[in-house]
Amino acid sequence: MTFVIALPCVDVKDKACVDECPVDCIYEGERSLYIHPDECTECGACEPVCPVEAIFYEDDLPEEWQPFTAANAEFFDALGSPGGSARLGLIRQDHPVVAALPRAVHRVP
Ligand code: F3S
Ligand code: F3S
Repeated sequence: MTFVIALPCVDVKDKACVDECPVDCIYEGERSLYIHPDECTECGACEPVCPVEAIFYEDDLPEEWQPFTAANAEFFDALGSPGGSARLGLIRQDHPVVAALPRAVHRVP
């Protein structure tokens, strides 16, 4: 089990969660951030600070956003376990689930 970042983060990327994470396991992709499922210690610190309520404990993820569990995990298929997001910075890619989403007008900065 882990925490998962879901749809509301896409094209918003507030990043308040990154500042709260004690193990630096929240990584920045092009349109969303992703929680590394193996590096997350399930401390829960990130969940209440997200202003758009994009972060959920895996078991509490709404049904319509279930694909985001795999999206968060599979984002790291090619990255492995970097051991901290700060050293990577912005990763110029997204999981296909995120990349396929239309750019909603209200979400474009
Ligand atoms: Fe995204 Fe919320 Fe973090 S918008 S970057 S999950 S604070
Ligand atoms: Fe995991 Fe969030 Fe804590 S990503 S380690 S629950 S701050």
